[in-house]
Amino acid sequence: MDSRLNGSARLMLVSDLDYTMVDHDDPRNTSLLRFNALWEAYYRHDSLLVFSTGRSPLSYKPLRNEKPLLTPDITIMSVGTEIIYGEGDAMLPDDGWQHYLNHNWDRNIVVEETTKFPQLTPQAEAEQRPHKVSFYVDKVEATEIMNVLSERLAKRGLDVKIIYSSGIALDVLPKGAGKGQALAYLLKKFKIDGKLPCNTIVCGDSGNDAELFTLPEVYGVMVDNAQEELLHWYAQNAKSNRRILRATERCAAGILQALGNFHLGPNVSPRDIKDFQKCKVNIFSPAYEVVKFYLFYEKWRRAEVEKSEQYMQNLRSIFHSLGVFVHPSGVELPLHQCIDAMARLYGDKQGNQFWTWVDRLTSAQIGCDTWLVKFYKWELNENERQCTLTTVLIKSQVEVPDTFTWLHMHQTWLDGFAIANAERWLF
Ligand code: GLC
Ligand code: MG
Repeated sequence: MDSRLNGSARLMLVSDLDYTMVDHDDPRNTSLLRFNALWEAYYRHDSLLVFSTGRSPLSYKPLRNEKPLLTPDITIMSVGTEIIYGEGDAMLPDDGWQHYLNHNWDRNIVVEETTKFPQLTPQAEAEQRPHKVSFYVDKVEATEIMNVLSERLAKRGLDVKIIYSSGIALDVLPKGAGKGQALAYLLKKFKIDGKLPCNTIVCGDSGNDAELFTLPEVYGVMVDNAQEELLHWYAQNAKSNRRILRATERCAAGILQALGNFHLGPNVSPRDIKDFQKCKVNIFSPAYEVVKFYLFYEKWRRAEVEKSEQYMQNLRSIFHSLGVFVHPSGVELPLHQCIDAMARLYGDKQGNQFWTWVDRLTSAQIGCDTWLVKFYKWELNENERQCTLTTVLIKSQVEVPDTFTWLHMHQTWLDGFAIANAERWLF
């Protein structure tokens, strides 16, 4: 199992996607973007992000393209029947897990037996997987069908698990599968490697998330908008578990709430900064500086910060006067010229859909006071997304705490995410 980290993760955050990480009722993605800024500023360098979704690889992809989701380290898909390490070209399925799930499982028998229930409506083909057979069924009929079906499948020699989610979806899986079992398998692997995370937190909203909360020694948060079947499970099985929080905030905001509640690390998103003049952290952190800069940049163009010359003066003092920016089009510009361009664009995105976020941020100290910071910088402009692979050279000033200088910046387009008119791209 390939992990970015050399040692144990400080935190492994395992989150469901639909209606936990992603609030489909919020087109502005407010809490997701708040989570993203927090994660990249404070957690990315020493923690692991795991998505655990009911979606198949096929239906996960459009969600990833539609919503500002960060890149996870591991993705548990198809209700814990598929485990995938890395992303994109580097995606690597865990074949050991697939193999293990074959035990007392025969997909054809499941299909044969379920066809005998006319109340079960098969889900789309994209959701049918080697170890997952999925249907829609009315709430009033679900319990009865689950009982009869599991008896019939047991009689035919199968060991299955039937899960009901969101008051509509019914999944038939091998008994050893499920989101909780997949996580237990991962934790066991980490333990064997001597890399058990210091803390683990699981986050969910619906029935297929329930078993995540049964793992010993994990923290859990049920977001405020949790589904009836999850709350029912909790009332019956886990009410006395002090490690499970019923959040009063929806979706990703509930995750931030839980991080604070269980003292698992910082829980105030840099996105919630009101006064950019004052906000400083005690220890110089390149990740935090980069996240903060792009938030300021977004808020400047959205006219959500005051139009003050003082801000621009500050930026000029942070960006080295001889510093160079290699624009993704290949053109070299003095960093200060970019600040001047930014100054002129105050409010040009006011009232528009214009959001920025950074992803996969890593930083390496390459000298006693010099840092090389790399990240993917995303921008959403109305319905179009752009992304550049960005490298920044930052120097901290040892004599003056909290002072740092951006020396050099370089961007190249991420394949398929260039802007049509390169002149419209600033940073
Ligand atoms: C997701 C999947 C669906 C599954 C449901 C509940 O919505 O796409 O196939 O039934 O989660 O687990
Ligand atoms: Mg969900």
